[in-house]
Amino acid sequence: MKYFKVWFTIFSAFYTLNTFAQGVLDGGDDQYKPRVGQEGKDVVWVPTTNELLAIMLKTAKVNSNDLVYDLGSGDGRIAIAAAKDFGARAVGIEFNPAMAELAQRNVNRSGVGDRVKIINGDIFVEDFSKASVVTMYLLPELNIALRPTILKMKPGTRVTSHAFNMGDWDADIEIDSPAKAYYWVVPAQVQGEWLISGMEPSRTILKLSQYFQKIGGSIQIGNDSQPLLNPKLDGSTLSFTYLDRDKSSHFVMLTVDNNEIKGIYKSRSYNDNKITGKRL
Ligand SMILES: C[S@@+](CC[C@H](N)C(=O)[O-])C[C@H]1O[C@@H](n2cnc3c(N)ncnc32)[C@H](O)[C@@H]1O
Repeated sequence: MKYFKVWFTIFSAFYTLNTFAQGVLDGGDDQYKPRVGQEGKDVVWVPTTNELLAIMLKTAKVNSNDLVYDLGSGDGRIAIAAAKDFGARAVGIEFNPAMAELAQRNVNRSGVGDRVKIINGDIFVEDFSKASVVTMYLLPELNIALRPTILKMKPGTRVTSHAFNMGDWDADIEIDSPAKAYYWVVPAQVQGEWLISGMEPSRTILKLSQYFQKIGGSIQIGNDSQPLLNPKLDGSTLSFTYLDRDKSSHFVMLTVDNNEIKGIYKSRSYNDNKITGKRL
């Protein structure tokens, strides 16, 4: 923690010099002027530049169907941009009461008060499970502490973090410019064995291994087991190809819903066949 405070202090000094020139630090008002690098409960305040936050929200494909939560929302700029520029609803959670009040005034001044709410609270206490998109600019150990909660969110929830990754949960996309940021999609829990119906006359078992969004496995049709080729998991959408005994290629795409799975496979005649399955 100490190391990152030092890191943040150095970064903040650089950032202050750099961004004053760009005029992007106009987050304060006549009632409260936050200072870049000022103490926060678990992490100091350093705002994300408007350029980077726009790229983060664009990468997450934020749109009018989304509910965006910014964890540790500072002056509210990410929540405001999500509503104003991407049409989403947004909630910012900020521990510092003066900062939360400033953010709420910024929300009102931006004319998005009907779609953005600032909660003065702790990200480790407040419930953000309804978010379809989570944004954050925290610290590596805070990302890791939040990771189990994030992984329990609805599969397909998009997450983007300025500067810091999620340890061994590799990002789906890395943003390198104008600064480092990461993007993930919360994967469904698919590990285990699934009994598939509608695919082949013989009993079909799909066996899946999983490490976050990375999956592997095999498909057993009767006594014949084939490895999954190019297996992918994107939220709750699972896809792969396999070769049957005659070396014909079949493409399978399935949607996972807890213990049930359904979708299509393309047979040799390239027709879409409906298939269903359940966890064994
Ligand atoms: C690095 S700043 C990021 C601000 C904003 N998300 C952005 O990117 O511009 C982190 C913010 O988190 C707030 N914070 C620190 N610990 C917190 C906690 N436990 N709960 C809520 N907010 C917290 C700080 O006060 C600060 O405003």
